[in-house]
Amino acid sequence: QVEQTFVMVKPDGVKRGLIGPIITRFEQKGFTLAAISLRSIDRALAERHYGELKEKPFFGELVSYLTSGPVCAMIWQGEHAVENARSIIGKTNPVEATPGTIRGDFAMDIAGNIVHGSDSPSSAEREIGLFFGSGAGAAAAAST
Ligand code: CMP
Repeated sequence: QVEQTFVMVKPDGVKRGLIGPIITRFEQKGFTLAAISLRSIDRALAERHYGELKEKPFFGELVSYLTSGPVCAMIWQGEHAVENARSIIGKTNPVEATPGTIRGDFAMDIAGNIVHGSDSPSSAEREIGLFFGSGAGAAAAAST
């Protein structure tokens, strides 16, 4: 079933020049790029994006990190896009991420884990709406 997922290269990934390698992995896996935007995000957007983590002790650190430099926001499309993206991204904690996954190969620390991928089709829809405006996913899908 073709679906879309939201993927974001975080500020440390952008600073380290990893946008290209990350895009390559998604293309090699078979995904289609439906939208891409290099942009800075403000505290309000970071707090909305990670709203469900508001009570976590690391929330403040997470928001500061996300607003520390530009991010690369993307919509990737394909069969079971959400699950396939999570499988090539690897476990949240890079210590546990298998080599061959993006975090397994490029990241050391959970607070700087390079990339974010939606964890369910409903969060993909919500996150695509936050970053690209609601309807952006459908428009991108219709044009491909
Ligand atoms: P992400 O997949 O973007 O979703 C939530 C993020 O919270 C996660 O990646 C990590 O970057 C961050 N995170 C999760 N656990 C911790 C933690 N213990 N300390 C700092 N950041 C964390």
